[in-house]
Amino acid sequence: MEKGMKIAINTGGGDAPGLNAVIEAVVLAANSRGWDTYGIKNGYAGLLNTDEIIPLTPDTVRHIANTGGTILGTTNRGNPFQMPVTNLAGETEIRDVSDKVVENFRRLHFDCLVAVGGDGSLSIAYDFYKKGVPVVGVPKTIDNDLCGTVITFGFDTAVSIATEAIDRLHSTAKSHERVMVVEVMGRNAGWIALNSGVSGAADVILIPEIPFDIDRICEHIMDRELQGQRYSIVVAAEGATSLGGQAVDKGRGEAGRQDVVLGGIAEVLAKEISKRTGKDTRSIVLGHLQRGGSPTTFDRLLALRFGAAAVRTIEGRKFGTMVALDPPEIKAVPLEEVIGKIRNVPVDCDTIRTAREIGVSFGD
Ligand code: F6P
Repeated sequence: MEKGMKIAINTGGGDAPGLNAVIEAVVLAANSRGWDTYGIKNGYAGLLNTDEIIPLTPDTVRHIANTGGTILGTTNRGNPFQMPVTNLAGETEIRDVSDKVVENFRRLHFDCLVAVGGDGSLSIAYDFYKKGVPVVGVPKTIDNDLCGTVITFGFDTAVSIATEAIDRLHSTAKSHERVMVVEVMGRNAGWIALNSGVSGAADVILIPEIPFDIDRICEHIMDRELQGQRYSIVVAAEGATSLGGQAVDKGRGEAGRQDVVLGGIAEVLAKEISKRTGKDTRSIVLGHLQRGGSPTTFDRLLALRFGAAAVRTIEGRKFGTMVALDPPEIKAVPLEEVIGKIRNVPVDCDTIRTAREIGVSFGD
């Protein structure tokens, strides 16, 4: 058994239920090998300002697997390769401060960085790997859009929360004979909308992979009226677009953000549906509720397995990889094979076929 390894762990990008379970498993599995683990706070920031590095002992992490958020903090703004820095003239410029991160990593004698994140954070991890930092990635995102793994942790919790919300909307929609348009997260992938929409008995599901036609949506709602179903539930992924249209971006210009911040499709759709059908229509945005709170059993277990597998991967010195679920096993896949891509919903997948066969419209 190898002694004396010193592991750093960080969590980056949007939080997802299960992050603390990964941290717990990494610390306990490392400790069982006689290794030490340190938490880097707020993504990579802790490796720039080393005051933000904390020792993680079994006592610090024991039984945090059931808690939401991340005890290490996270950010989707701190890319050391493109860091906004304010110069002496008070202007903000983008600088590459990655050498400082590598220098601090080496100065503190870390043997490996466990980077828990989605595509953005894992791409940064891969760039550090190319600069000589031994890294192992752990796939996190409620969006489930990472390649190389059958599923990411956080997704099951988000789908469960969205499904429960849709379930609850049926009774109020029915009582008022309304159309309810529910917006769920997922960026440019429709996994959350599809799985929660089918499970929650939505009538219309709109996902980025299938551009919609507003006329088809309204026809479906009016067909239901003719059949005596005087209410409808529409589940829209935040990245859903009309044929030839663009996703609704509510965040352009948000300070320090270079990426698109999706959101607002539900309100746009609700206005249009109401105008065209004359039906009383309301929009609901589930937003960050989908990321908050305790992970489901599935996510907790997956995250614990990912954490323990990350330590096994370090032991096997398979750096530059990401742990991934390939049922029934967890394997390590090269980071370069998974980053910079999106795993979209295949439009001919069984869940979509099932949905169509049970009467769901995709607005196409
Ligand atoms: O990637 C996770 C996610 O929750 C997306 O589904 C969503 O578009 C985005 O993050 C929201 O980001 P923020 O927390 O910055 O609003």
